[in-house]
Amino acid sequence: MKTWGCQMNVYDSERMSGLLKPLGYEVTETPADADLVILNTCHIREKAAEKVYSEIGRLREVKAGGATIAVAGCVAQAEGAEMQARAPEIDFVIGPQSYHKLPEIVARSARESGETLFTDFAVEEKFDRLAEPREPGGPSAFVTVQEGCDKFCTFCVVPYTRGVEVSRSADAITLEVRQLAQVGVREVTLLGQNVNAWHGAAPVGASAENWGLGELCRHLAQIDGIERIRFTTSHPRDMDDGLIEAFGEEPKLMPYLHLPVQSGSDRILRAMNRGHTAESYLRQIEKVRQARPDIAISGDMIVGFPGEDEAAFEETMQLTREVDYASCFSFKYSRRPGTPGATMAKQVAEEVKSERLQRLQALLNEQRAAFDEAQVGKVLPVLLEKPGRQHGQVIGKSPYLQSVFLEADASRIGEIVDVRIEGRGVNSLRGVLG
Ligand code: SAH
Ligand code: SF4
Ligand code: F3S
Repeated sequence: MKTWGCQMNVYDSERMSGLLKPLGYEVTETPADADLVILNTCHIREKAAEKVYSEIGRLREVKAGGATIAVAGCVAQAEGAEMQARAPEIDFVIGPQSYHKLPEIVARSARESGETLFTDFAVEEKFDRLAEPREPGGPSAFVTVQEGCDKFCTFCVVPYTRGVEVSRSADAITLEVRQLAQVGVREVTLLGQNVNAWHGAAPVGASAENWGLGELCRHLAQIDGIERIRFTTSHPRDMDDGLIEAFGEEPKLMPYLHLPVQSGSDRILRAMNRGHTAESYLRQIEKVRQARPDIAISGDMIVGFPGEDEAAFEETMQLTREVDYASCFSFKYSRRPGTPGATMAKQVAEEVKSERLQRLQALLNEQRAAFDEAQVGKVLPVLLEKPGRQHGQVIGKSPYLQSVFLEADASRIGEIVDVRIEGRGVNSLRGVLG
């Protein structure tokens, strides 16, 4: 199993492995040991498909040894048929909405049946069929609550690869989280392409027919054993007051919000079809900070979208200064075939994008360093997640999603312990049991 892309893909890979377990499959360290290779791909930025083709090239020997090669994920969904034509090594292609069919496909050997392209959209069926108990890899686990996107930002392929927004029911999610809690999970991260667009069926007997994400978080917080709840990725358009209030009132909801804005220029935001302004975004951040003053804000930025001139980029820098991010991802705009942005006038030259990205990242690095530095000297509750590389070392997470390295016995993994933060590295904190 090789996974590219977002956490949804990481989760899907986990689920695919789980589904194949009853057939006797287990994950191997190297492709050379594999009978079945699944490439779980991402389509979000350029060269994604190219990476998959070169990976398939490297798998030639494995293939010659008799292994089956499958392509899954968003490239599979977007370009499945083209991929099959170009790379005959591929035995079958399976899109994100068809993973529940995997055991069947593998069991009857796709080649023999003749059907090799599985890219229909049937998300609900997928959710139902994937609801079997799981074996998580540690005390922190992902749970998909929502899939798909109806927002159609003009730069983005996700609405085409993941389909329309679909929410799982609160009961189905609760069941999965309960099962996870029973096998030692302490923290769940609720996943969705637009997770705060979640509006799932409320449990029978609840006062409303549907709930919002804030209500779901409060409900899950009551499950014994679950100590921390997170969610990602949110969209500014779906950030309702119920969710913002939950940050102030539900202590198990961790003080970290990933809320991408993409640009600080209203003209560019309009061209991106984001459906919000820089000002409305800043107001939301302010509200969230009022509800939970210590919250860490994170985001995504795109530089060099068509029509972005120096003044528009400066507005992005200005918004970034105002928000003061704890962490933020930033990307050069990448022209994705089939999206409206790809054919817009005034595409920005590659060198200009690179130069702007550098300036933005310099600012974001400073902000991140300052946020980390501000934790030094404090005592933070840290969820111990896994052994570190050095003997006696354990790695955990702060409430603000920072990795924390400390000396502790590995038997304590799964506990939330007080850690005195003593220093910081480039992307992590160092501490001692407090
Ligand atoms: N649903 C999420 C994001 C999904 S994609 C949201 O709306 O926030 C993750 C990030 O990839 C986006 O936030 C965006 O910053 C980036 N991205 C998506 N398409 C891109 C493109 N064509 N070029 C550059 N970055 C892109
Ligand atoms: Fe893509 Fe926009 Fe949907 Fe996010 S909201 S997945 S960026 S189209
Ligand atoms: Fe990539 Fe698909 Fe996720 S395009 S970012 S794997 S939704």
